[in-house]
Amino acid sequence: MRTDELKRLLSEMSLEEKIGQMIQIPGYFFEDGHLTGPALEMGLENDDLYLAGSLLSVIGAEKIVSLQKTFMEKQPHHIPMLFMADIINGYRTVYPIPLAQGCSFDPNLAERCASVAARESTASGLHVTFSPMADLVRDARWGRVMESTGEDAYLNGEMTAAMVRGYQGSDLAEKGRIASCLKHFAGYGAPDGGRDYNTVELSPRTLLDDYLPAYQRAVEAGTAMVMTSFNTLDRIPSSANKWLLQTILREQMGFEGVIISDWGALFELLNHGIAADLEEAARLSIQAGVDIDMSSPVYPKALKKLVDAGIVPVELIDLAAWRILELKNKLGLFENPCKDASAEAEQKVLLCPEHRQIAQEAAEKSFVLLKNDGDTLPLDLHASVACIGPYWDTNKLKGAWSIFAEDEDCATLKEVFEKLPFPSIQFAEGCAIADPGTFIVAFRETKEIDFPDPEKALAEAVKLARSADQVALALGEHRETTGEGASHGNLTLPECQLRLLKEVAAVNPNVTVVFFTGRPLDIRAVQQYAKAILVAWMPGTEGAKALARVLTGEVAPSGRLSMAFPYCVGQVPIHYNQMRTGRPFHGDYRKERFFSKYLDIPNEPLYPFGYGLTYTSFAYSPVTLDQTALRAGETLHASVRVTNTGKRAGTETVQLYIRDVAGSVTRPLRELKGFRKVALEPGASQEITFEITEDMLRFHDIHMNFTSEPGAFEVYIGPDSTTENKGTFTLQ
Ligand code: NOJ
Repeated sequence: MRTDELKRLLSEMSLEEKIGQMIQIPGYFFEDGHLTGPALEMGLENDDLYLAGSLLSVIGAEKIVSLQKTFMEKQPHHIPMLFMADIINGYRTVYPIPLAQGCSFDPNLAERCASVAARESTASGLHVTFSPMADLVRDARWGRVMESTGEDAYLNGEMTAAMVRGYQGSDLAEKGRIASCLKHFAGYGAPDGGRDYNTVELSPRTLLDDYLPAYQRAVEAGTAMVMTSFNTLDRIPSSANKWLLQTILREQMGFEGVIISDWGALFELLNHGIAADLEEAARLSIQAGVDIDMSSPVYPKALKKLVDAGIVPVELIDLAAWRILELKNKLGLFENPCKDASAEAEQKVLLCPEHRQIAQEAAEKSFVLLKNDGDTLPLDLHASVACIGPYWDTNKLKGAWSIFAEDEDCATLKEVFEKLPFPSIQFAEGCAIADPGTFIVAFRETKEIDFPDPEKALAEAVKLARSADQVALALGEHRETTGEGASHGNLTLPECQLRLLKEVAAVNPNVTVVFFTGRPLDIRAVQQYAKAILVAWMPGTEGAKALARVLTGEVAPSGRLSMAFPYCVGQVPIHYNQMRTGRPFHGDYRKERFFSKYLDIPNEPLYPFGYGLTYTSFAYSPVTLDQTALRAGETLHASVRVTNTGKRAGTETVQLYIRDVAGSVTRPLRELKGFRKVALEPGASQEITFEITEDMLRFHDIHMNFTSEPGAFEVYIGPDSTTENKGTFTLQ
């Protein structure tokens, strides 16, 4: 539709219709063309329902085509609906969880995964996905770390911008493109105590320098929508935070798209205690700039009253409705209301071999090898293997948000490994996936966990381990123990699994542990008893195949931790780019006292950000800089030569960190500023050069200006965030 036509449409719409565009209703309100009970609670009578501008979580080409038709017939101006849903790491073909994708350090891969998710979900009729999540995460207790690409602002920015590109392409109306909704704006990843939905306390500088950049990158990549977060920032809930939504998001970041609240968040303004009633919640939200109320009674029940009473100017409604119409227009819905919805296309693209292939590649590239003593891995295909643990015979290898995928589409490890040419391969469950009494509430399934007879299962496993040459233990947390509303006070594996590990290792020390998780865990026990450790995260539809290839050495692991594994829960929140302190500490934590340290545990995480091994080794030359001084407008080149010093081919992720030696405010110990993946055959080497420019050195200074400051800088280039391989230069 031309802009003048769209403007005319807006001018012809009634106030009720415009407000309708600003209301999103959940799909389950709508049964057989009639409102069900919960919708009435939202204040929607049957006719109002058809004024709603968007529908949440309805999927399926046939259903969407029929709903779109019904809605458009009843909407006075026949305006099409927007169909939105959470397509987080794939639709029917499921990719590794975002935290695992972060470990690939491969934005191009994330972009391809997102574009496949777009192709599949648009065939099923969707127009908007509630992804990517750009929330920075530092606290593994928070269940939603799995939805983030990790603890680093730069890596998150690279990954989330890539995802936006993958979803949207360059033209939303194009076939297979979906609008992306960036979330959760802002700071949702830092709830106090790691408890979901809890208060967030961030200093303005920490917010601006660490937390906002990844959202900014996704905005620059053109995300069509932004979702507000549930949390407060400086005691103001995001959905009512005018400074955050107007000054920061719209004015400073230049976001021009649609802002939607999170689910029910406008109503939650009452719980937060900043609104006394629905009218106040509606006034605060519309004034802050929320265009769409996701599933709460606030806009449906209160917005019109406020306009009628002259409290909210109609111009604010016009602006919000205009943005929503514009998005519909960009998606081409006025000409093509069902966009790509097609049962035929669904048949063709969902889970097609090409998509499965990318899922497999993504899984392979997201696994992180943490330990490999004595080249325990790859597994020896000429030796017998005992496959023990609750993860061998399950097809639940997808993250919690894979709500539209079917477990049946996913092979189990057992099914894949049985086909491998080991002289003998035997399986035993060993123990349950969780301890009895573990609280598990799933998004979709409420099926009870199977608890085998613990003593019998353990005895069988130990017997098997004793007779095998090598043991592969598949352990991990239940997939529903991470995700939304799944915060944890403890970060260890279930007791029953730890017991299994110890007893198995006692009879056969040749143990590899592969573990499935949505968050970094305290794996000190695994570290102690296993010779090799591979983190598989929640690898998705092709996880089993990918694991078979990596564990047997057909493919070498190449993932790097996007989030540190803490030594124990007492260290969290933890991140490599901490601020300097007046009493820094290195060394033996049991020896000193009056430093910034613990008396009983080290300061360092068990495995730091950026860390990961492979089946070969790499050597780095010292860092060389082509000049020792840098001026604004110039480029400094920092190089290293990386050599594969082992016997197998492998991929190294070369990481660039910069430290600002002294600033007008305390600066982080170091910050990731670039990375490069390099594949090298044994004995081969390659020079890797990073460009460093003045704008990479900017931060919010003592006056809150975003600028760089002259002085000394250290450049670190190495395999992870602890590298000491460095050079120095001065900014003039
Ligand atoms: C609540 C979650 O916080 C958000 O991430 C999600 O997109 C919405 N629910 C919609 O399902």
